[in-house]
Amino acid sequence: MSFSITDQVTWVGKIDWELRRFHGDEYSTHRGSSYNSYLIKDEKNVLIDTVWGPFAKEFVANLKKEIELDKIDFIIANHAETDHSGALPYLMKEIPDAPIYCTSSGAKILKGHYHQDWNFIEVKTGDSLDIGKNKLTFVEARMLHWPDTMFTYMSGENILFSNDAFGQHYASELMYNDLVDQAELFQEAIKYYANILTPFSPLVTKKIQEVLSMQLPLNMIAPSHGIIWRNNPTQIVEKYLQWADGYAENQITIVYDTMWNGTRSMAEAIAAGIKAQNAEVAIKLFNAAHTDKNDIITEIFKSRAVLAGSATINRGILSAISGILEMMKGLGFRNKKAAAFGTYGWSGESVAIIEKWLQEGKFEIVQPGIRELWNPDDEAVERCVAFGKSFAEKL
Ligand code: FEO
Repeated sequence: MSFSITDQVTWVGKIDWELRRFHGDEYSTHRGSSYNSYLIKDEKNVLIDTVWGPFAKEFVANLKKEIELDKIDFIIANHAETDHSGALPYLMKEIPDAPIYCTSSGAKILKGHYHQDWNFIEVKTGDSLDIGKNKLTFVEARMLHWPDTMFTYMSGENILFSNDAFGQHYASELMYNDLVDQAELFQEAIKYYANILTPFSPLVTKKIQEVLSMQLPLNMIAPSHGIIWRNNPTQIVEKYLQWADGYAENQITIVYDTMWNGTRSMAEAIAAGIKAQNAEVAIKLFNAAHTDKNDIITEIFKSRAVLAGSATINRGILSAISGILEMMKGLGFRNKKAAAFGTYGWSGESVAIIEKWLQEGKFEIVQPGIRELWNPDDEAVERCVAFGKSFAEKL
């Protein structure tokens, strides 16, 4: 499959409807994904990015239907991660001398992945390539989300090829933002931001401001995953500016794991207390052992505050909760309040352990955690309700 985006630009990527796990097993892709590769035909012919390795043969066969490979003058590797560079080894067997434009870090990573001494041309922000009627200008976007990442802007057609930025793991044959279901699109876009770009939010703001200051006319943003933004493309840029700036909706997420439902009872009583204090805040409860971890992270990203709970086991916490806490710490959320809770039988370390994780993750702990012995009785439930009320008061 391929399709024309403009008279001169053709999408030559791969829609991966089957994909359910990405980055190994780290990212769930409930709606599949796509690897977007773009072919520009001008006086010079340019290929921007490729696809993931398992689709290399299919990609090259498809590409041959669009162009004789030796007529490709330049390859641009906006990002060296294998979901975009994976077809390069197979492609470069056919056109081994084709120059590959990338950042210096990109060249190092591509060599590290494929151990090939291809004809790398290293570029920096502001470098450009005249390709005929159009010009391509490179903008380094270091750490968005890898050190090598860059954008390519095509003046003439006014398309920003943004690679991962503004992308979504979202398979759709419709391929344009104005044609797809908006709730699905923005759910996948915010999930992508929350789980992948959160650690780099200050750089996102800075880079967007830098690109906006260039005052480039923009007809489309063409990312490397998901749909192309052609209808009001700056809407996703505005969303990114919001998401990068300590984003929070009026929501509290309660995430817990439980052995015999005691910690679950605490979670529900705390939720009742929050609701009694503030009937308008959205409260969402997730058992970490039963819920997709990336979906939980997305809900935490949308929240003003988080409550994390676990029973004590082996002087520690349940493994599903430690997994989520590790992700929360690594993502580096900002401006979120938190507290801990959990049941115990004898030693009772879980609350203190969770509080330590939360502090390391830069969550603001607004009140000491609550522990309850064995299964909460009516009095314990009342204490949890009061705990929820006082937590809601502090937001
Ligand atoms: Fe879609 Fe960072 O690769």
